[in-house]
Amino acid sequence: MEVRYSERAGLFQASAIRNKLFDNPEIITFAAGKPEASLFPLGGIDKALAEVMGGEGKSALQYGPSEGLAGLRELIASQRMAACGVTTTADDIALTSGSQEAIELSGRIFVDEGSAIACENPSYTGAFGALAPYAPRYVPISMDEDGMIMEELEQALRTDPDIRMIYTIPDFQNPTGVSMSVERRRRLAELAAEYRVPVIEDCPYGDLIFEGERRPAVKSFDKEGWVVMLGSFSKTLCPGLRLGWICAGKEILEKYVLAKQGMNLQCGTLDMCLAERYLSLNSLEEHISALQDLYRERRDLMLDCVKRYFPAGVRCTHPHGGFFVWMELDPALDTGALLLKAASEYKVAYIPGRSFFPNEGSSSFIRLSYSCVDLATIEEGMKRLGAFVTEEYKKL
Ligand SMILES: Cc1ncc(COP(=O)(O)O)c(C=O)c1O
Repeated sequence: MEVRYSERAGLFQASAIRNKLFDNPEIITFAAGKPEASLFPLGGIDKALAEVMGGEGKSALQYGPSEGLAGLRELIASQRMAACGVTTTADDIALTSGSQEAIELSGRIFVDEGSAIACENPSYTGAFGALAPYAPRYVPISMDEDGMIMEELEQALRTDPDIRMIYTIPDFQNPTGVSMSVERRRRLAELAAEYRVPVIEDCPYGDLIFEGERRPAVKSFDKEGWVVMLGSFSKTLCPGLRLGWICAGKEILEKYVLAKQGMNLQCGTLDMCLAERYLSLNSLEEHISALQDLYRERRDLMLDCVKRYFPAGVRCTHPHGGFFVWMELDPALDTGALLLKAASEYKVAYIPGRSFFPNEGSSSFIRLSYSCVDLATIEEGMKRLGAFVTEEYKKL
């Protein structure tokens, strides 16, 4: 078919995470960064839905405000934002269809053709997909065990005037599981103000801490309004509601709301009513605490399996929360090329690390997610993956 698509349509990217290969039930997959479905609070959601339909049912099925329902925005400000050290009000919150939409809107608002985005190297491949239509140039900033290296970021900001936003995932980063130190969070907020470049702080995993103390958000150090924080109910409540939020100062938030209005008017009113009622009737903190226990146990087992089943030279991160372990194999191995073999011969799958590097990057990494795999399956899957990697190491 000779369809004349826009040039922008040629920039769309397929997600490396949503690979059909991972749907085969014979394959144990550590690819999906999904929350554990058995802990979705079905009873609480059912009750909240019944109350919504029995009460404000008609208005729940009507259009609503583009920035989202006031009651839900208030609960987000007083509960979720307070939990990460940010003192704010409903006026600084707008609802989005997951944080994925907020990333896309950030591109709409801040990125022109030829603009650059500074981000951790590696970073969330889904953000590259969301931002692809804006054709940004990426300025990847190295990380160590304390997150993005601020000296390198400052050097980039000093020398590259086209950097229009800094995208960061400071808590249990996707894909590495690494968290930014408190000192660097403070410094990042300072640099944003000094160079007048907005920080997009993407924080879908911050609540899911299971080791050590929760660190205050970069937003909590923001004195002048240069930090835009993105939150989400996807990992703490359920992703099917498609509800996330933006916390930003008035001027920037208005731009986001206008951009969202043009795109899809608003989030689903029923979804927002449901979330609001659920949060009013239940303690999300208690639910999060159960999630933390579950994910801690899975993380522990996965790391233990690395010691037991993998060659000694294999290194991986030790996340204190979130969903991901980032594993580094021998530089001679190309994990992208090996995936098909792992899946077809060893019946185990992972995400090759290459797609998480915005520019050129190493092919010897893999991202493993323990979030939606039960303990027995983690044991078996890691045994298979370890056997596969051991076999490949023998050939080196
Ligand atoms: C870092 C990061 N940002 C954003 C998202 C999108 O999440 P949501 O379901 O809130 O759109 C994800 C999902 O995996 C993620 O890992």
